[in-house]
Amino acid sequence: MADKKRAFSGIQSTGKLTLGNYLGALKQHVSFQDTYDAIFCVVNLHSITVRQDPKELMDNTYDCVAWYLACGLDPKKAILFAQSHVRAHAELSWVLSTFTQVGELERMTQYKDKSKQHKQNVNAGLLTYPTLMAADILLYNTDVVPVGDDQKQHIELTRNVAERFNGIYGEKFIVPEHYHPPVAARVKDLAHPERKMSKSLPGKGCVLLEDDPAAVLKKFKKATTDNEDQVRLDAENQPGITNLLEIYAATQGISSDAALSQFKDSRYGDFKVAVGEAVGASLAPVQDEYKRILADRGFMDSVLKDGSARAAEIADAKIAEIYEAVGFIKRG
Ligand code: TYM
Repeated sequence: MADKKRAFSGIQSTGKLTLGNYLGALKQHVSFQDTYDAIFCVVNLHSITVRQDPKELMDNTYDCVAWYLACGLDPKKAILFAQSHVRAHAELSWVLSTFTQVGELERMTQYKDKSKQHKQNVNAGLLTYPTLMAADILLYNTDVVPVGDDQKQHIELTRNVAERFNGIYGEKFIVPEHYHPPVAARVKDLAHPERKMSKSLPGKGCVLLEDDPAAVLKKFKKATTDNEDQVRLDAENQPGITNLLEIYAATQGISSDAALSQFKDSRYGDFKVAVGEAVGASLAPVQDEYKRILADRGFMDSVLKDGSARAAEIADAKIAEIYEAVGFIKRG
């Protein structure tokens, strides 16, 4: 274990997970468990920056756990836990908030988007969200953070905060690297290929991980394309077609160039059906596994209990080191 590099990532338990979460995160995350010392967290503390119904939040948290396990996460190899079970996240977040400028936080795209989306509740947590995310990552001496493209800005802020802290107190934090997948780092909405597929914007162009093959196919058949009449990889001029090629490539585990060579002579209608069918077929076995696991909360509770105990061991040691560095008296 000790000679392996550490990977850490997280998913918010808000709303239903999408094909974007699957291709850009879940599927990628699981592939880290063999080569990295991997830690995955359902970040339910982050979720409450947007008002949540308590029962739904709890259900969504189990949902994320079930999806992680259904995607092949092996709790004997990787650590899987709920953020609210390890207190050091909130503790380190407070310390780091005093090393983060309000101006930096105000510049975060996610903050700008969310504060427009939730005008009636622009709470302080929405603004300080990235300091909690930095705490998640830095608590575990993380080397690499696998996430989709949309999280890049948060990882950069994490690196800046770590460097700033280290500059004052010595090398306390590892400055983590951002890893994003070679394809499908930003899966676009099928109906609006200019924007990210997002669980906070569910609609006819958003494929949910739980959609059955018929529902998946229906959404792909209606995907927005263009008038070029030729399948090409050209994100700028053909965002819809390029998105479909990337989705297909990520689903099949091939490069987008390889996907292109399969479809370059296809008509749009046939192409959309082929991609929709491939996605539906690849999700079906994962969905069966998800349903089986979701029905067994006892099992998920035991995974979370074990995961949080292992996570807390690392996190508690780190927060003790940081508290000492800043000059807090050790608890007697
Ligand atoms: P969240 O919950 O929005 O998304 C979870 C993961 O899914 C990726 N993702 C996508 N990838 C490709 N295409 C898309 N359309 C798409 N939509 C979402 C995200 O990039 C992410 O990897 N702030 C984070 C959660 C978080 C976190 C952390 C992540 C909190 N603490 C520490 C890593 C490390 C978020 O809101 O992700």
